[in-house]
Amino acid sequence: MLAINRRALLRLSAASSAVALVPTVLAQTSETGVSQSATANPDFKPDYELELTATETSAKLFSGSLTQLWKYEAKVLQGDPRVLEWTHGSQFPVIRVRQGQSLRIYFHNKLPEESIIHWHGMHMPQKMDGHPMYAIAPGQTFVYEFTVNMRAGTYWFHPHPHHRTGAQVYCGLAGLLIIEDDESLQTGLPNGKHERVWVLQDRQFNRDNQLVYASMRMEMMMGFTGDRVLVNGLPDHVEQLGNTVYRIRLLNGSNSRFYKLAWNDARVMTVIGSDGGLLASPVDKPYVMLAPAERIDLWLDLSKDKPGQDLKLVSLAFTSGSMGTGMGMGGMGMGMRGMGGGMSASGVEMEVLTIQIEGGAQPSQDLPKTLSTINWPRIEEAVNANNPRTIRLQMGMGTVSLNDRTFEMHETTDDETVRAGTTEVWQFVNTSGHMGMSHPMHIHNAQFKVIERIQDPGQQSITSTMQDGLVDEGWKDVVIVMPGEQVKILIRFNNHIGIYLYHCHILEHEDLGMMRNYLVQA
Ligand code: C2O
Ligand code: CU
Ligand code: CU
Repeated sequence: MLAINRRALLRLSAASSAVALVPTVLAQTSETGVSQSATANPDFKPDYELELTATETSAKLFSGSLTQLWKYEAKVLQGDPRVLEWTHGSQFPVIRVRQGQSLRIYFHNKLPEESIIHWHGMHMPQKMDGHPMYAIAPGQTFVYEFTVNMRAGTYWFHPHPHHRTGAQVYCGLAGLLIIEDDESLQTGLPNGKHERVWVLQDRQFNRDNQLVYASMRMEMMMGFTGDRVLVNGLPDHVEQLGNTVYRIRLLNGSNSRFYKLAWNDARVMTVIGSDGGLLASPVDKPYVMLAPAERIDLWLDLSKDKPGQDLKLVSLAFTSGSMGTGMGMGGMGMGMRGMGGGMSASGVEMEVLTIQIEGGAQPSQDLPKTLSTINWPRIEEAVNANNPRTIRLQMGMGTVSLNDRTFEMHETTDDETVRAGTTEVWQFVNTSGHMGMSHPMHIHNAQFKVIERIQDPGQQSITSTMQDGLVDEGWKDVVIVMPGEQVKILIRFNNHIGIYLYHCHILEHEDLGMMRNYLVQA
């Protein structure tokens, strides 16, 4: 086992001789000290005050032994208690607020190792963003205070300590932050009991129902994938829906697995939103690619379906690279650890969940033609329109890197420095050779527009299996960069000054250092 994985140690369960794979580590001390945000600011008057406690728990997922997990326990300390909901299955807290509201969140770390919470997709002051330099030790508290200034959309939160993000998310730590604004509330899209949140994650369990996670560097290089899909933390998920219209918010909360999502009866996927909220108008796709950390909103019309029928959400076979994550049966499957359920003639790789359609002549509604107004930055505003900032995504012998560098806690370089309030073109170049993988690239404190994809004709056997399902129409904070591909994005930086991250959201790649700081200067 290589040095970087030394913490991915397994612990013997006291109750049985089976290996319980909730990883345990010794308490680590944060490099910058831990007391920076240990107390609340009395001048900050939040609309809501919540408590999130990362803790060990267990759940009955299968017959036999309980599964040991980690979880964010959540509690509303002040404000309307309806700000907090739970996903079906109660594994993930869902915080639902309106744009302009402010939150104080006490994060208590009751894990046996350091942790910190990152608010994925949000614009945040540096200290509130969950950079690993702010990780707190076991037993300590970090106080988040921020005002929500994002567009309506499905944002999420997850741990972000260095080297341990993958393991902590895998053990069950995640939650959603759903934002509404005046515009989103006026669209008349289905809500309340006609809205669902589905968090997709793949997991591997041992015979004693305990989680199994990567321990070898090679597994981490390829990205860890499990052989079964959990929805909201539950296996074999069945959802009862009426014969009407639903809004489905999907989050790929997996460490590494990409999904090629489709309905099993081949009806189109009607996409109404992505990472940064509603699209300008709906788009139909034959299938939708959803990489780790990406979100998608679907319009699901069951009004013409017969009660008693089933509809399945499936993940189709595809090839995401010549090695690695989530590849379909057509791939050169070095990374595969056996596909649960096998592949049917229609190319289904995994079943994600089953919808049982119930009757009752429920009210239906029409799909709105326009969903939102998007105020895009224009390429002419970019300070480097003809000279994009280029980030080469690299995989070598045992390393994953960005422009030949790996993560350093505090360092940034000149070519990683931007100015607050400016617009830039960034270009991700996937330099894959024979070790090609798709990388979902994520930038903190920013939402961006995908403006160009240039594909490598030599990698068409891979890209052609995914490209009709890419959703580049809306605001993004994660973008899939396929092998050989160059993807250009346009970002307008906000006025927050400080150090933020950009990284591959294959969590094993992030933990191996495929992550860098960038510095925003005044
Ligand atoms: Cu969801 Cu730094 O990531
Ligand atoms: Cu993020
Ligand atoms: Cu990667």
